[in-house]
Amino acid sequence: MGTSNDTILVTGGAGFIGSNFVLSLMNSGGAALVNLDLLTYAGNAANLASVANDPRYTFVRGDIGDAELVASLLRKHRPRAIVHFAAESHVDRSIVSPEAFVRTNVLGTFTLLEQARVYWAELDETGRAAFRFLHVSTDEVYGTLGPNDPAFSETTPYAPNSPYAASKAGSDHLARAYFHTFGLPVVTTNCSNNYGPFQFPEKLIPLVILNALEGKPLPVYGDGKNVRDWLFVEDHCAAIRRVLESGRPGETYNIGGNSERANIDVVTAICDLVDEMRPQAGAAPRRELITYVQDRPGHDRRYAIDARKITRELGWKPAEQFETGLRKTVRWYLENSEWVNSVRTGAYREWIEKNYAERAEL
Ligand code: NAD
Ligand code: TYD
Repeated sequence: MGTSNDTILVTGGAGFIGSNFVLSLMNSGGAALVNLDLLTYAGNAANLASVANDPRYTFVRGDIGDAELVASLLRKHRPRAIVHFAAESHVDRSIVSPEAFVRTNVLGTFTLLEQARVYWAELDETGRAAFRFLHVSTDEVYGTLGPNDPAFSETTPYAPNSPYAASKAGSDHLARAYFHTFGLPVVTTNCSNNYGPFQFPEKLIPLVILNALEGKPLPVYGDGKNVRDWLFVEDHCAAIRRVLESGRPGETYNIGGNSERANIDVVTAICDLVDEMRPQAGAAPRRELITYVQDRPGHDRRYAIDARKITRELGWKPAEQFETGLRKTVRWYLENSEWVNSVRTGAYREWIEKNYAERAEL
C-alpha cells in the first residue's frame, strides 16, 4: 500500500509552534494537512481560523494517546509524514502537576510511534523509504550549562532536570529506539526557547508583554540572570521544514537562535518596547514594574545551542535577529487583544493565581 504522496499528519497543530507551522505550510501552497490536537488549555482552534475552510486542511480533536483514533487517521489519510508537536510544554506546570506530562509526552508519543510503526510496515517499499516521523523536542533535555560551558551539541549527554524535560527526554529515547530497533524513519529536532505570535501567555515573553501593558507586576524568578537562547518561531518552523524534506533518518538536529539573553535583559527590552509603542504621558517607565520573586525549583541556569550541524547539512540558519523578532512579537500582542482575551479563560486565571500567589516577593 502506498501513501497519499503529499498528506502530512501534524499533532499539536493548535498550539503555539504547531499553529505557526500549519499556517506557514498552508500559506506557502503546501500539501494536504491533518491536524490532530486535543485542544487542552494550550490549544486554540481559532489560531487556524484562516485555513479552517481550506479543502487541504482537516482538523481532528483527539488525543495522541488514543491508539484506535491514531490508527484510523493513518489508515484514512495515508500521510507521507507525521510532524509531532503535541505535548505538555510548560515547566512550571510540570512542577505543580507532572502526571499529564508523563501521560502525553511519554505515553502519548509511545502510542503515536507504535501506530506509525504498524502503518509504516504495511506501506510499499517506496512509501516506506519516503516516510518520516519528525519528533519535535527541546534543548531542555540536555540539562543546564555553566557560564563558560560549550553550547549543547547533538552529542551532549542527556541530563534533564525538570519533569517537563525528563518527559521530553523519555519521548526522545523512544523515538530513537523506534529507528534503531524497527527502522522507522524518525528524525528528532531539539530546539531552544521560541517566541512569537500565538504563544500562550503563561510563558515568559507573552506574560511580560501583557502584564507590562496592563501595569501589573513583572515576575522575574530568582536573580533574573538565568540565560535562554531565543529563536523566533518562524525560524523554528523553517528549520522543521528543512529537516522534514532533507533530514537523515535516525539523526537529531539541534536548532537555536544564537541569541543568548539573561531573563532580566529580555524583560527590560520588553518594557522599553511597550513604553515606545504604548506611551503613557506622565506614567513611570514599565521597568519599575519588575518584581523579583521566588525562584523556580531546580531552575536551569543556562541553555545554549550549537546549531552548526543543521547549518552545515541542511543549509538552515535563523533569519530573524532577537531585537527585531521581539519588536514584531510585542506589536502582535498589542494588535491582537481579541486573541489574548479569548485564551485568558477562567482556567488561565486560576493557573496565574496559583503559580504567582505561592511565589513570595524577594
Ligand atoms: P503548546 O503547549 O503551545 O501546544 C501544545 C499543543 O499540543 C496544544 O495545542 C495542545 O492542545 C496539544 N496537546 C497537548 N496534549 C495533547 C494530546 N494528548 N493529544 C493531542 N494534542 C495534545 O506547545 P508549543 O510551545 O507549541 O510546543 C510544541 C512542541 O515543541 C512541544 O513538543 C515542545 O516540547 C516543543 N518545543 C517547544 C519550545 C518552546 O519554546 N515553546 C522549544 C522547543 C521545543
Ligand atoms: P519559560 O518561558 O517558562 O520557558 P522555559 O522555562 O521553558 O525556559 O521561562 C523562560 C525563563 O524565564 C526561565 O528561565 C524562567 C523565567 N521566568 C520568569 O523569570 N518569570 C516568569 O513568570 C516565567 C513564566 C518564567
